[in-house]
Amino acid sequence: MPQRNIPPALRAKLEQAAAKVMKNAHAPYSNFHVGAAILLTNGQIFTGCNVENASYGLTNCAERTAIFSAVAHMGPKIEIRAVAVTNDHGVACSPCGACRQVIYEFGPDAIVFFRGKRGPKQARISELLPEGFRLQ
Ligand code: THU
Repeated sequence: MPQRNIPPALRAKLEQAAAKVMKNAHAPYSNFHVGAAILLTNGQIFTGCNVENASYGLTNCAERTAIFSAVAHMGPKIEIRAVAVTNDHGVACSPCGACRQVIYEFGPDAIVFFRGKRGPKQARISELLPEGFRLQ
């Protein structure tokens, strides 16, 4: 069932949480600090930042850090209603393909707030990841 839109004040709260946690990023290789906040359908908010590694491929994006933290605290039955992503360069930054698939796992109808090429944007994860993969 399609979820309700996010009221502007709640969106602002989510974006502020993302901007705050962005400061904790470990990004010495890219120097690109990212913060993410996820809103669960029960109203709780969890946050995460990108955590890079000298072995570059082990980097964890902010979005997945937030989602994994929510699962660690709440268990696997979480449902994501919305995701906000911020970065310290003020540039376009939508969730990468891997993060889209992980968002889809826990929120197939989630709304994602991010910066697009022409400024702030919102999109359903189903638009960002058409035909996301699910094990039946
Ligand atoms: N990154 C995120 O954390 N989220 C995104 O949506 C895009 C990219 C991180 C990964 C890496 O640490 C840095 O940004 C540069 O790619």
